[in-house]
Amino acid sequence: MRDLTSQSQSRRQFVRGLTLAAGAWPFVSLGKTSSVRRIFITGSTDGLGRGAAVTLMREGHQVVLHARSKERAAAAFADLAPNAAGVVIGDLASAAQTRAIADQVNKIGRMDAIIHNAGIFRESNRGTTPEGHAKVLAVNTLAPYMLTALIDRSARLIYVGSSMHHGGDDSLRDIDWLERRWDTSRAYSESKLYVTALAFAIARRWPKVLSNVVDPGWVPTKMGGPSAPDDLEEGHLTQTWLAVSDEAAAKVSGRYWHHRQQQKPAAEALDSDFQDRLIAKLAELTGIVLASG
Ligand SMILES: NC(=O)c1ccc[n+]([C@@H]2O[C@H](COP(=O)([O-])OP(=O)(O)OC[C@H]3O[C@@H](n4cnc5c(N)ncnc54)[C@H](OP(=O)(O)O)[C@@H]3O)[C@@H](O)[C@H]2O)c1
Repeated sequence: MRDLTSQSQSRRQFVRGLTLAAGAWPFVSLGKTSSVRRIFITGSTDGLGRGAAVTLMREGHQVVLHARSKERAAAAFADLAPNAAGVVIGDLASAAQTRAIADQVNKIGRMDAIIHNAGIFRESNRGTTPEGHAKVLAVNTLAPYMLTALIDRSARLIYVGSSMHHGGDDSLRDIDWLERRWDTSRAYSESKLYVTALAFAIARRWPKVLSNVVDPGWVPTKMGGPSAPDDLEEGHLTQTWLAVSDEAAAKVSGRYWHHRQQQKPAAEALDSDFQDRLIAKLAELTGIVLASG
């Protein structure tokens, strides 16, 4: 086992290396943080999830990374894995693999914060997951619901939403796209309305947990495309700030954020009746009941 001096030397070398390798991510302080935190980030192979992982690791926090497969992890985490607090594997489109992700995280230990970041957008058709669900619903809504219910409760939960959630509605009619003609934009909007309402339902049900939603803006990731107009760096910094900052402004719950400013979410997401109907539906679709308090 390496002694503490060599451990801290190698951490300093790693942080220096990250700063050089991740030149695209400028140094931005995450605000006052008194201690090292352990954070799990879904979808940390690319885009905003990877940006959040790099920023948090550079600040000295312990990050648990996630990839859909061992092959993807090997390709994406060569630089990050040696200094990560863990790497968990699983395809979020599969309920069985999502359960396995929760088990892997629980084996590592309790997380101080979880950033539910992974998401998909432009699916040309409904698709069918191993459990028969629409893929966008499974990855963007069912998976964060399952992980919220199955991972040992964290003090802070951050759900990555989208301004497109305003395009959803509260009917919950055909949530799994079994009857309607496929509409990729609508499916994404609905999935993001659901995950936003889920976050606010958690804030209401679990008062000791800080549960918030972040709209990262339209940013040039694999999902956003090269001509996305918003700032890529700003796209992940609200999530990381909410995950670790001790500033009073970051220690709130049930809020909707964009660039560290609170914004007004869709009225449906704040409606407790809609939240309860949604949670009941998600329990029905996943077979997993969310603890009430
Ligand atoms: N980019 C934007 O303009 C924008 C705007 C509003 C909201 N958002 C939200 O921001 C979040 C991050 O998006 P991004 O722009 O960073 O997208 P991205 O670059 O496409 O990255 C998405 C991440 O999720 C992972 N992922 C997707 N499906 C998965 C699955 N079935 N199992 C496991 N991992 C999976 C991806 O893994 P692979 O690398 O293996 O594909 C990747 O790590 C999403 O929730 C998205 O809806 C993005």
